[in-house]
Amino acid sequence: MSMKAAELRAQGKDIISLSMGEPDFDTPEHIRSAAIAAIHAGQTRYTAVDGTPGLKKAVIDKLERDNKLTYEADEVLVSNGAKQAIYNLLQATINDGDEVLIPAPYWVSYPDMVRLADGEPVILSTSPKTDYLITPAQLAASITDRTRMIMLNSPSNPTGQVYSRQWLSDIGAVLLEHPRILICSDDIYEHIWWSQEPFASIGEVVPELKQRLVVVNGVSKGYAMTGWRIGYAAGPAAIIKEMRKVQGQSTSNPCSISQAAAEAALAGDQSCVAEMCKAFRKRHDWLVPALDALPGINCIPGNGAFYVFADCSGVIEELGLKDDLALAEHLLEHAGVATVPGTAFGAAGHLRLSFACDLETLQSAVQRIEQALKS
Ligand SMILES: Cc1ncc(COP(=O)(O)O)c(C=O)c1O
Repeated sequence: MSMKAAELRAQGKDIISLSMGEPDFDTPEHIRSAAIAAIHAGQTRYTAVDGTPGLKKAVIDKLERDNKLTYEADEVLVSNGAKQAIYNLLQATINDGDEVLIPAPYWVSYPDMVRLADGEPVILSTSPKTDYLITPAQLAASITDRTRMIMLNSPSNPTGQVYSRQWLSDIGAVLLEHPRILICSDDIYEHIWWSQEPFASIGEVVPELKQRLVVVNGVSKGYAMTGWRIGYAAGPAAIIKEMRKVQGQSTSNPCSISQAAAEAALAGDQSCVAEMCKAFRKRHDWLVPALDALPGINCIPGNGAFYVFADCSGVIEELGLKDDLALAEHLLEHAGVATVPGTAFGAAGHLRLSFACDLETLQSAVQRIEQALKS
């Protein structure tokens, strides 16, 4: 949809894109300056495959400070984005036919990355009734002798829903009974969070799971650094060692200059993170009720990330459209608004709308959608 929107824009059409998965803010000034200083200081050569000592220390300090998780240097790997960290993890641990549990709606890349590792994605569907979260009973019923890993993601792309401590403790209790299952906790949206409870990783709530937990995070979303491509993984040394081999024979180290910038992001003043989060929340608080008020659209509020996941089954039926893909096409054509169909996230009948744009843009997008639903 993003590409289609760009094509229409190039043809001179007035298109509002609510399909993007990246903050609209610039990377904060002190982070950009650190990158420029790194260039001038000659940090322009290969680094260690698993990252510079400075960035690895900043990651270890961050995990201790924010997540109460203690790691040593051989338990951390810096990669080209959280995406490569997850890819490395699946390549290093998943064998032919291993099952990976993926709660849906899910981030689009998980199932294909599992397939690329010759594993089998097992999709656990959810609904708004449980805030799009799997239940402990559902998890227990989905586990087989072949289950090797579960993917967790909070706040979620695409729903913006978050895991409470109670939920993590209940899910953790099920996982404790199955020692073969590894846990991937994709915390990339950690800092875009406005739930009343503070963010918690499953490793903090259920410390007994830490020996089979791999935490994945990065600077893309929280620090508006999508283009810099820095993510990281922390987990048991034996798994990190195998992940490092995968990365060593594919991309080697991530960009040396980006690593210097990421170090400044993680170790520097954190007020920029809170400021961006405040802006996202303001947009969320406006957008969710505005969309929910439209006939045939139902939205539940999220507690983080920068997406609204709208149940549009009513409007699809009302307009006599085939599915959510047809609805997304309809809105692009008649409203000039680009969204992402829920089918891409394993949840048909929905649309994902990103609020990584200013409030005025959101307001005119909703006005245009309202008009298009009447046509
Ligand atoms: C849930 C989730 N995980 C991981 C990523 C990858 O982020 P990065 O830019 O660090 O590769 C994204 C990016 O959209 C995401 O939404």
